[in-house]
Amino acid sequence: MFESLLQPMTLGPTRLRNRIFNPPHGTTLGNRGVVTDDLIAYHLARARGGVGLIIMESMTVHPSYGFEEAFLYAGSDRIVDGLNQLATRCRAEGTPVFGQLFHAGRGVRLSHDGSRPLSYSASDVPDERYRVVPVPMPNDMVWELIESYVDAAGRLAAAELDGVEILASMGYLIAQFLNPETNRRADEFGGALENRMRLLREIVNRSRERIGPDKTLGVRITLDEKTEKGLPAEEMITVCQQLEADGNIDYFSVISGSSASPDGWIHVFPPMSVAPGFVADDAARLKQAVSKPVLVAGRINQPQLAADILDQGKADMIGMARALIADPEFVSKVAAGRTEDIRACVGCNQACVGHRLAHFPVSCIQHPLSGRERVLGDIRPAASPKKILVLGGGPAGMKAAVTAAERGHQVELHEQTGRLGGQVNLAEALPGRAEFGGITTNLQHELQRAGVEIRLNSRLDADAVRRITPHHVILAIGAKPRRPDVEVEGTEMVDAWAVIDGTAVPGNSVVIADWSCDWSGLGVAEKLARDGHHVRLLSGGSVAGESIQAIVRDQWIGVLHGLGVEMIPFARFYGALDGSAYFQHMTGGEAIVCEAVDTVVTCSAPRADRGCDWLENLDDLPVSRIGDAVAPRTVEEAVLEGLRLGLEI
Ligand SMILES: Cc1cc2nc3c(=O)[nH]c(=O)nc-3n(C[C@H](O)[C@H](O)[C@H](O)COP(=O)(O)O)c2cc1C
Ligand code: SF4
Repeated sequence: MFESLLQPMTLGPTRLRNRIFNPPHGTTLGNRGVVTDDLIAYHLARARGGVGLIIMESMTVHPSYGFEEAFLYAGSDRIVDGLNQLATRCRAEGTPVFGQLFHAGRGVRLSHDGSRPLSYSASDVPDERYRVVPVPMPNDMVWELIESYVDAAGRLAAAELDGVEILASMGYLIAQFLNPETNRRADEFGGALENRMRLLREIVNRSRERIGPDKTLGVRITLDEKTEKGLPAEEMITVCQQLEADGNIDYFSVISGSSASPDGWIHVFPPMSVAPGFVADDAARLKQAVSKPVLVAGRINQPQLAADILDQGKADMIGMARALIADPEFVSKVAAGRTEDIRACVGCNQACVGHRLAHFPVSCIQHPLSGRERVLGDIRPAASPKKILVLGGGPAGMKAAVTAAERGHQVELHEQTGRLGGQVNLAEALPGRAEFGGITTNLQHELQRAGVEIRLNSRLDADAVRRITPHHVILAIGAKPRRPDVEVEGTEMVDAWAVIDGTAVPGNSVVIADWSCDWSGLGVAEKLARDGHHVRLLSGGSVAGESIQAIVRDQWIGVLHGLGVEMIPFARFYGALDGSAYFQHMTGGEAIVCEAVDTVVTCSAPRADRGCDWLENLDDLPVSRIGDAVAPRTVEEAVLEGLRLGLEI
């Protein structure tokens, strides 16, 4: 099965053992521009997992863009040793390594000291997403920049990387030069397409001269920037054809989206609302126009989809960034015919993109070992196997049970309802969020594989616990909704969880009092608006969904806007009386009054479930609490705490 994925191939002079590559993704595991042991451990895990090729994260090349500490810096020889170690160790596992060179141009958020940074671009066209006005790059600076790219390519070759990729995609600097909307120059780098592509051609052709014929040289491009003023696909295709005619390029890697606008940005890190494999047709279009191999990435998280794209001739290699963050062993599982064991990425963006944009090492809500390979280490057999009783079948309990069982403990998991999953079951019931339920499916499969005994509809009392004779009890019983401490009279008030699970049906005109600013407020608003209710969403933060990953939130807000949901931020809920709901503006202090309200739906702070407190005094039995049963947070913390406890116990 999936033979096409496992076919070897060559990319320029580099031989690859299969068709799956790890696309460049910033990990925040570097330190002040250089490779660390954590970054080596991260990539080694993917190389050991069988991936055909690793293309390392964007490395900056020139001081005019080097503000973010999170980036590796290929503008200095300091990078060479670490890169060499990383590539040598990954190659020893069978995986060649390329490096990607990058300049964001006007797409700059931070300076070294917190002041607003100076950014450079082709022209002074303002950026919609970062809201910066760039400085047009002086002509001599452009030529200096070209030299910097070439020197950086030389450093990657000196570090014995197998190849170099030039990032010309996603609306960053080279794309800003290519696009007439952002390039208004009158010198040899502006005007006709021939001039706008000069920067890229000079970089590619001179880099080839520097690195010689024994290294692979590729370019990453965007065919569809998914934004109003993006570069037209026809022009990008002409650019690729010109690069091919120049004779120095070995492959094209296609991605979608742009950093320059919120709608474009959503497609760079596509959340679960974006269709799986959505870039494949762009890749197919480019493949018709060029003869060099075409690589593609974008929400490809299942072997079947990846194989279909190859089998239909739409691309030559499949990139999986988040799929390999969620499961570094994806490829070896395919090779071993164990595809049902793959922990598929659900496109939540929470711990991968979310961590990266907040300047923390990337990880995965389902696989917290990602990005923590050195900190948490391997799953080692327990010194003395014990009998472990886990109460609660949400993500925290499931992960603790799996990890403990994988270490050789005998584990029994009891869940009081008839279904594993906890709050994930609510989140997956929301419109467009079904894929989130994959978290439960994946954990359930891991439980079975690890040999955990699962008891559903099981409520234990002290005698029942004694009969099991556990050495250790894990309390992962989650959280419960909380009724807000406000006065409500003459107006119905129900909890969001009850609306989602169908036990409460609100009236026509709904006000959502959204303390949590997470998926529950946005999700219940969408569900009710789609069901025909009139919905007002009043959130206790600067924006609805403030607590969730920005791309997921931004996309969701667009959906709610389209459904006519009225959204009011900074609203503190005060109560409801006879069909009016009362809020206070959290900074201005004025009253916000919503009239003609049938039902107030509350997304209030949940409360840790203390239901099994008695266990903590039972026969000196060691008891550990994890996840929402300690304090309500998200799936990420639940799974992380489950893993940590499972490793310690
Ligand atoms: C945390 C993170 C950081 C990324 N950083 C880069 C980068 O440095 N350079 C780049 O070209 N793409 C970057 N990307 C985009 C990925 O290469 C890839 O195109 C995108 O994640 C879609 O593929 P996926 O659905 O397989 O994750 C990044 C993606 C993620 C998740
Ligand atoms: S955190 Fe979510 S999007 Fe990121 S890799 Fe894990 S499952 Fe995928």
